[in-house]
Amino acid sequence: MAYLSPSILTADFADLKTQLKKLEEGGADFVHLDVMDGSFVPNITFGQPVVRSIAKATDLPLDVHLMIVRPELCLEEFALPQTEFIVVHEEACLHLHRTVQQIKALGKKAGVALNPATSLSTLDYILPELDMVLLMSVNPGFGGQKFIETSWQKIRELDALRKAKNPDMLIELDGGVNLDNAAALKEAGVDVFVAGNAVFSAEDMAERVRQFQRILK
Ligand code: DX5
Ligand code: ZN
Repeated sequence: MAYLSPSILTADFADLKTQLKKLEEGGADFVHLDVMDGSFVPNITFGQPVVRSIAKATDLPLDVHLMIVRPELCLEEFALPQTEFIVVHEEACLHLHRTVQQIKALGKKAGVALNPATSLSTLDYILPELDMVLLMSVNPGFGGQKFIETSWQKIRELDALRKAKNPDMLIELDGGVNLDNAAALKEAGVDVFVAGNAVFSAEDMAERVRQFQRILK
């Protein structure tokens, strides 16, 4: 079973409610929210007030991807009733283990994201505690970038690791996902597919979500 988590990063932010409805209509599993602070990544998107409004505007569970420094300072505000996952970056956490425990104490599933150049070995001592690992297959900050090819090897290695150490853990992939690579990515071990540009550039977004779901389900 694989899941689609469309990222609203390339949405029209003045018309979010309509677009969220289209994601629901197509049968998306989650909505992926890219929170960026202009410090951890060279882009600024939105924060807690917008996430709260999105939670009111959709029934989809939220997949919150925090691309911010010191995420431990504001986890609680992202732990809304609709929040399914809170994902923090390994590179942004001084005390990753503590931050993961904080997410769990808020009653949420904890994910850790790795940038393309960050080794899987950084998770050696925490993998059994994670609900999800998000592999970045582009450098974080922007939608519509080209898939980094070394991600294939990283997915396969993480798939082998989780089978040995934490079989229930999900693998999420973020960046450059499209209809052409989705089937092979699923085969390689990806469970949660983030797709921004591939969904939001479509003329008919609901139909694009259905096209993805035919591959993933
Ligand atoms: C990138 C974000 C992604 C982004 C993916 O920093 O984390 O979620 O929206 O966009 P696409 O699917 O367009 O590569
Ligand atoms: Zn993301």
